Amino acid sequence: MSVETTLDIAAIRARFPILAQTENGQPLVYLDSGATTQKPDTVIEAVRDYYRHDNANVHRGVYALSERATEAYEGARDQLRDFIHAPSRKELVFVRGATEAINLVAQSYGRAFLQPGDEVLITELEHHSNIVPWQFLREQIGIKLVVVPINERGEVPLADFEAALSDRTRLVAISHMSNALGTINDVTAMARLAKEKGAKVLVDGAQAIAHLPVDVQAIGCDFYVFSGHKMYGPTGIGVLWAREALLEQMPPYQGGGDMIHTVTFEKTEYNELPYKFEAGTPNIAGVVGLGAAVRFMQSLDRAAIEAYERELLDYATEQLQNLPGLVIIGQARHKAAVISFKIEGAHPHDLATLMDQDGIAVRASHHCAQPVMQKFQVPATVRASFGVYNTFDDVDRLVASVQEALDMLV
Ligand SMILES: Cc1ncc(COP(=O)(O)O)c(C=O)c1O
Repeated sequence: MSVETTLDIAAIRARFPILAQTENGQPLVYLDSGATTQKPDTVIEAVRDYYRHDNANVHRGVYALSERATEAYEGARDQLRDFIHAPSRKELVFVRGATEAINLVAQSYGRAFLQPGDEVLITELEHHSNIVPWQFLREQIGIKLVVVPINERGEVPLADFEAALSDRTRLVAISHMSNALGTINDVTAMARLAKEKGAKVLVDGAQAIAHLPVDVQAIGCDFYVFSGHKMYGPTGIGVLWAREALLEQMPPYQGGGDMIHTVTFEKTEYNELPYKFEAGTPNIAGVVGLGAAVRFMQSLDRAAIEAYERELLDYATEQLQNLPGLVIIGQARHKAAVISFKIEGAHPHDLATLMDQDGIAVRASHHCAQPVMQKFQVPATVRASFGVYNTFDDVDRLVASVQEALDMLV
């Protein structure tokens, strides 16, 4: 596959049909990719073509349709293995998304291998999906949840992270990139420090996967989780990557078809990896679409994506911070693709509603990261988050719309 090393943004945009739409009579400016990205033509077509031509259940039929469906499903697994540089295809488990992957690790690994008093370390930056599953585990088996605070910039200082590790730390669960602030954590250094304490490391890559090159072996983690819909793929499909040796030891998360080898009423033998963790008919069309999303991303140079989005972010930051009363929340030195802000005297929801009138889709909420909002003492922020299809013109329209809203509200 040829890789575009300089990005032709106009050509990339043209591949996203939804971006040609108008909203409220204005050309759409989509700045909510942190919530979900838009989908390129090839992803939409892959899902459509799968249903039109190849739809059948996987791993079961000996007929041609089922073989094609299985090939497409397993082929996507191989592409994803390559995409995150995993050592083995057995290590990629298809799940609904990052949320399900974290719950799987908590309920399978956590319940089997953690003891009362063992510490699970998270950070104040986490999305609720990397907080609540560990609270379940606290209630279920009495683990201790330790939280590393963030600083005023919205960073997790490495020294604070290190200081929070203890001899009881058994698992560290950290976001690679914050959805609320855009902060990028140095997960490689964190994984190294955690490993020195003998802890396992889960990295929540839900945001990072679309913005940064991801190499699970280079990071040195044990689990890496992400969702397809935040990387230009369909909703309802995601990946849990875990080291083979761990998956081998972990009990299944759900029981049902496909995850078994043999079943009698007395005893069930589980299937080999990764099928032990894929009970029931999977989201085959979702996997096919995710494979197309991987091909889309691999056709672009991921380092070029990162650099381009960095330029967009710098430009947006520069423009927005000149507006009177606007405060950017989260000024990490290492951040990507997300700009969260508040304006004194204007509620984020009112701002976002006015911006919608200009065809601009931004998110106004706590972004499923209420502890981050509590830290910065705001109920919510307005968040503009970028994808590879956004342009400098989008930023100009964002800034003009915020300015207009300011004139009206403040
Ligand atoms: C950092 C982070 N982690 C986890 C999730 C959960 O992803 P999903 O809702 O796709 O399971 C999100 C979604 O916004 C996220 O941003």
